[in-house]
Amino acid sequence: MTVSEVQNQILKLKKEKDICILAHSYQAREITEIADFTGDSYALSVKAASVKARTVLMCGVRFMAETVKILSPEKRVILASPDAGCPMAEQMDRELIEQMKEMNPGYTVVAYINTTAELKTICDVCVTSSSAVKIIKAMPEKDILFIPDINLGTYVAKQCPDKNIKLVSGGCPTHCRVNEKHVMQAKKKHPNALLLVHPECIPEVSRHADYIGSTSGIMDYAAKSSATEFIIGTENSIVEHLQYDCSDKAFYPLSKDLVCHNMKITTLPDVLNCCKGLAGEEILLDSETIAKAKKCIDKMIEYGG
Ligand code: 13P
Ligand code: SF4
Repeated sequence: MTVSEVQNQILKLKKEKDICILAHSYQAREITEIADFTGDSYALSVKAASVKARTVLMCGVRFMAETVKILSPEKRVILASPDAGCPMAEQMDRELIEQMKEMNPGYTVVAYINTTAELKTICDVCVTSSSAVKIIKAMPEKDILFIPDINLGTYVAKQCPDKNIKLVSGGCPTHCRVNEKHVMQAKKKHPNALLLVHPECIPEVSRHADYIGSTSGIMDYAAKSSATEFIIGTENSIVEHLQYDCSDKAFYPLSKDLVCHNMKITTLPDVLNCCKGLAGEEILLDSETIAKAKKCIDKMIEYGG
């Protein structure tokens, strides 16, 4: 079968079976093309709360499917590829965070959305890369324990100097693959290009950036900018999407190693098999986990607007 034949079958089946396909922007082009909605983690969370279809198929990683289930517990939520986890989301467990809370009484725990549903049950507020600064500035609390991404946390702390932000040392293994050497090499090769990076990159990379933002933030910035060349410091699918969306501009990966293998495990035939009911994993969460985890996601949407 060709790509377009598989895509046509998916489009037909999802209509017949009332399936809404959500795809994170790190998914391959052929998947984002057939999705009902594509975006960054924040946009996907907001969308998840208002989806009308009875079944939601998440093409992304596990914490994203869990977020959909938490916000729409009455829906059947399927993770397209059961192996698609986010290593950062699994870096910290309940025991560690409970210990940290005990050691830091009075601190509000702000969790990057890249955390498990279980961990969210003991956190106070969720943030995403695009909403973190806005949310932390809007929060009345001053003392904040930020988990699990030390790089996003460092970036946020710089933008919110009036807050007292404690960090823990977690991070994204994909974005941490790039260092200052990659920046120097890319800038030398493309001296006229602007550098756009995700805040999950290490500070030694981010400090050279012309723009720091979420996946959608980077895509919007590049589309609206009058510049014509860009080095992209996030997962390489964003390079590909931008090449399609802004064909009059040039996009270069900061490194060929900026590939999230978990995001890339889902294939278009997997999506077709999920629509046929032959693949994927239904996300099941107990009602207590949903109720407790929902509080911190609701707070994110309340502060994030
Ligand atoms: P965004 O919030 O930019 O979608 O990022 C999610 C993610 O997993 C980045 O690695
Ligand atoms: Fe997780 Fe990093 Fe992959 Fe994003 S890019 S899903 S943070 S491993």
